[in-house]
Amino acid sequence: MNYEELMNEAIEASKNSYSPYSHFAVGACVLTSDGKKYKGCNFENASFGLSICAERNAIGSAIADGAREIRAISIYSPNMQDCLPCGACRQVIAEFSGENEVQIITKADEGIKIRTLDELLPGCFRL
Ligand code: THU
Repeated sequence: MNYEELMNEAIEASKNSYSPYSHFAVGACVLTSDGKKYKGCNFENASFGLSICAERNAIGSAIADGAREIRAISIYSPNMQDCLPCGACRQVIAEFSGENEVQIITKADEGIKIRTLDELLPGCFRL
């Protein structure tokens, strides 16, 4: 898979961000093991703690469509270089990592960055 393409989907999704409180827009796009892509953006709430991250929104769409295994996820914010998933989202990505390594794709001035979930969440909790 072309990760530039996956990043472009995250950029598109970030344009739909509903973030009137933080003004911090985020978009994400999940690539599942069967090659499908699902976008998500963050959406906030006047009760701040109810805000949902872009990554979990994208993963929720994938799950609702029957997917269970994530191969890669791209994340983009126009407000931050190399925008990485928060701790909660890392744990949610881990839930659907299956047998394979999940690639975490971000964007910086130098270009696309690729990390594995294991690098970002080593020794994570699993049942
Ligand atoms: N946010 C995400 O969407 N993904 C992350 O991994 C980090 C944070 C959102 C949540 C909130 O709407 C805004 O960014 C500021 O924290």
